[in-house]
Amino acid sequence: MGRLEGKVALITGGASGIGLSTAKLMAKEGAKVVIGDFNEEGAKQAANEIIADGGEASGIFLDASVQESIKDAIDYTVNKYNSLTILYNNVGLTNLQKDLDVVNIDLDEWDRLMNVNLKSVVVGSRYAIPHMKDAGGGSIINTASMAAFASDSIRSAYGASKAAVVHLTKYIATQYGKDNIRCNGVAPGLILTPAAKNNLSEDLQAEFEKHNALPYHGEPDDIGHAVVFLASDESKFMTGQTLQIEGGHYLANPTTPFFNELAKKNK
Ligand SMILES: NC(=O)c1ccc[n+]([C@@H]2O[C@H](COP(=O)([O-])OP(=O)(O)OC[C@H]3O[C@@H](n4cnc5c(N)ncnc54)[C@H](O)[C@@H]3O)[C@@H](O)[C@H]2O)c1
Repeated sequence: MGRLEGKVALITGGASGIGLSTAKLMAKEGAKVVIGDFNEEGAKQAANEIIADGGEASGIFLDASVQESIKDAIDYTVNKYNSLTILYNNVGLTNLQKDLDVVNIDLDEWDRLMNVNLKSVVVGSRYAIPHMKDAGGGSIINTASMAAFASDSIRSAYGASKAAVVHLTKYIATQYGKDNIRCNGVAPGLILTPAAKNNLSEDLQAEFEKHNALPYHGEPDDIGHAVVFLASDESKFMTGQTLQIEGGHYLANPTTPFFNELAKKNK
C-alpha cells in the first residue's frame, strides 16, 4: 500500500520543477493529485503522464495571484475526488531584474511577489481548511526557501516573502492543530529545475556547488521526497516546522574556506 493511499492532494505550480516532481512522487504513493498551474497545458500534460504511469491525476488552470482562481481549484478538487487532505502551496516567483536592494526595488514588484509568494498561501489554506476539517484532518505544506534564513544583496521581496511563509506555517499549525490539520514547510537551497538551469550559467552552477557540504547539486526529487513525508502520516507528530534542504550549503561558518587556505599555507 502506498504511503499516501486514500489521500487527495492539490499542488499549486505543479506543471514544472519541484511541483511536478512532487506530483509524480505523491501519485506513486497512491494520492489522487490535482495539478493547478498558470500553464494549463503543462498541468494537463503532467496529469496525463501520471495517468499513463498508473496514477490518478487531473491538470487544471490555477492563477495563484487570484483568490477566486485558488478557490475554484479547491472546489474542483473536492468535487472531483470528494475530499481534500493535502495542500501543497508550492507556487513562488522571483525576479532578478526588479526585485533588488531596498533603495532600488520596484515596489510594484514587491506587491506582486508578496501576493503570489505569501498571500496565495493564506488564501489556499483558508479555502482548504474547512474541507480538511470535514475529512477529519489534513496536511498543508508550504514552499519557503533558504532565502528566508540568509539574506542577499538583491531579492529583498523574495526573501521577506519566504521568511513570512516560514512564520505563517507556524501560525497555521498553531491555529488548526486541534482539528488534526498539520502545517509544515520545505526551504530548498538551489535546486536544478529547468528554470534554474536556464537562469544560471554553468560557471555559476559550479560556484554554487563548491559551497555545498555535499559533492552535488539538489534535484527536484530531493524536495519532492521530503514533501511526500510531510504529507504522509509518517510525520503525524510534526507540525509548524520548515525543513531546510540545501546540501549543507549554509552549514559552515563563512570563514571556513579562509581558514582552510591558511591551514594549508602553515603546513
Ligand atoms: N528551484 C530552486 O532553486 C528553488 C529554491 C528555493 C525555493 N524554491 C521555491 O520552490 C517553488 C517552486 O520553484 P521551481 O524552481 O520548481 O519553479 P518553476 O519555475 O520550475 O515552476 C513553477 C511553476 O509555477 C507556475 N506558476 C508561476 N506563477 C504561477 C501563478 N501565478 N499561478 C499558478 N502557477 C504559477 C509555473 O507555470 C511553473 O509551472 C517556488 O516557491 C520557489 O520559490 C525554488
